[in-house]
This record gives sequence, structure tokens and C-alpha cells, in this order.
Amino acid sequence: MININNVSLAYTIHHERSHSLKEKMINLFHKRKYVEQSEETFWALKNLNFSVHEGEQFAIIGKNGAGKSTLLKVISGILKPTKGSVEVNGSIQPLIEIAAGFNPEFSGRENIYLNGYMLGFSREQLKAKEKEIIDFSELENFIDVPVKYYSSGMSVRLAFTIATSVEPEILLLDEMISAGDAGFIKKARSRMESLVKRAKGVVIVSHDLQLVREFATRAVVIDKGELVFDGDPNQAVDKYLNL
Ligand SMILES: Nc1ncnc2c1ncn2[C@@H]1O[C@H](COP(=O)(O)OP(=O)(O)OP(=O)(O)O)[C@@H](O)[C@H]1O
Ligand SMILES: [Mg+2]
Repeated sequence: MININNVSLAYTIHHERSHSLKEKMINLFHKRKYVEQSEETFWALKNLNFSVHEGEQFAIIGKNGAGKSTLLKVISGILKPTKGSVEVNGSIQPLIEIAAGFNPEFSGRENIYLNGYMLGFSREQLKAKEKEIIDFSELENFIDVPVKYYSSGMSVRLAFTIATSVEPEILLLDEMISAGDAGFIKKARSRMESLVKRAKGVVIVSHDLQLVREFATRAVVIDKGELVFDGDPNQAVDKYLNL
């Protein structure tokens, strides 16, 4: 279903060095001509090789900054690998960073449409889904208020509900369920479970090790961009705890 062949990914980090406030002012007046610039290449993924097969519930674990979200972005096509290749057989939908795509000046309802179009829905499809999204996220009273006035839990509820109204063959999940209050997490889990049941395969990134032990049929451990384990989820969790 997913083939990762010798995949490496480099981020280019731009540094601007101007050492003092005075220097910054001078640079301003000189149209920044004298700003020292430097570029650094950072390899977030290093020569990864693995495949995910149909029917697998696949987990990716690793410490903060290990490269897990980067890997999901490469699988979903948001990022192109610097080296190597990724093959995906089936429609794919990443449930990642949707809340980051909200326009804070727009209302919740407007953001449903904005994000819905980005997820590939037509206007008619969104009209049909709008009520269900508002009901599930329990935002009836706030749906016409700009998202900038939402609490972070409210934004996450809306983002989660929009994202999970798509039914892709391959589901990619990045720590979506962990936000929100206890009541919503329970509802969100059962919504996820029915999506998972209908999907051909699932790839999750999670720090919830209990979830990985219970849910995953296979797991990989990523450490500093490298694959250090691939196999049984319980062994993967043990490996991770020993890093
Ligand atoms: N756009 C970017 N530009 C430069 N470096 C980045 C960028 N995005 C991520 N990185 C770096 O790449 C590395 C991997 O980041 P990534 O977000 O994939 O980690 P992660 O495993 O998902 O961590 P977490 O558990 O905290 O979510 C980190 O060192 C991070 O600083
Ligand atoms: Mg991450």
C-alpha cells in the first residue's frame, strides 16, 4: 500500500545574523544589504526503508523532533523527499495540522467551507456535511463567530470533525485525538474507529504508548530521522522506552 524507498528529507534553515539593535537599524536603512545570511541543511529523515501493507494498523513512534510528522508529510505528498521515493496505492488523507489551516478572521462555518474545498469537497457535498460537522463538534452557538475567539479545544474539535468527514482508503493520523475534553475525546475515538474500520490501512503517529500497544499491528521507531526498529508494537514500545 505504501512503499518508502531510501527516503531522506532535508530542510533548509535560513539564519539571519545581525548582532545588535544598532546593527539592525543600520541594516533597515541600508535595505538589509549588510545582513549576514547563512543557510544550514538539516536532515530530518535519513535513508528510510519500509512498506506498509493493506490491512495493517501501522504506528510511528519516537521522541519529539524525531521526524514523525515530517515522515507523514512525505507519505501524504505534502513534502517531496530530497532523496529516494515514495509509492502510494490508494487515496490518501492526512489528518494533520488542519487547525493550522484555519483563517482566524473567518467564522467556523466559513472555515468549514475553506478547509472542505482544500480537502477536495464540492460546494454541494459541503452543504450536505455542514450540519453534521457543526453538530458533532458541538459548536452550534459559536459557528458564526470568528475562529480567533475560539478556545484551543474548540478549534481542535472543529478541525478534527472536518478532517474526519473525509473517507480516504489510507488514513494518516498525527496525534489528533489527544486534544479536547474527556467527553469529546470519547466521541472522537469512536468516530475514528469507524473511519479506521472502513479504511484499507491506517498510519498513526502517537505518544500514547498504550494506544500503540492496543491498536497497532506493526510499529516503527524513528530516532533522529533514522529507523531504529520495525516490527512488533510491544517490542517497538520497549525499544522506544530504552532510547
Ligand atoms: N519546516 C521546517 N523547517 C526546518 N526544520 C524543520 C521544519 N519542520 C520540522 N523541522 C525539524 O525537523 C525535525 C523533525 O520534526 P518533526 O516535526 O517531524 O518531529 P516529530 O517527530 O513530529 O516531533 P513531535 O513529537 O514533537 O511532534 C525537528 O528537528 C524539527 O525542528
Ligand atoms: Mg510531530
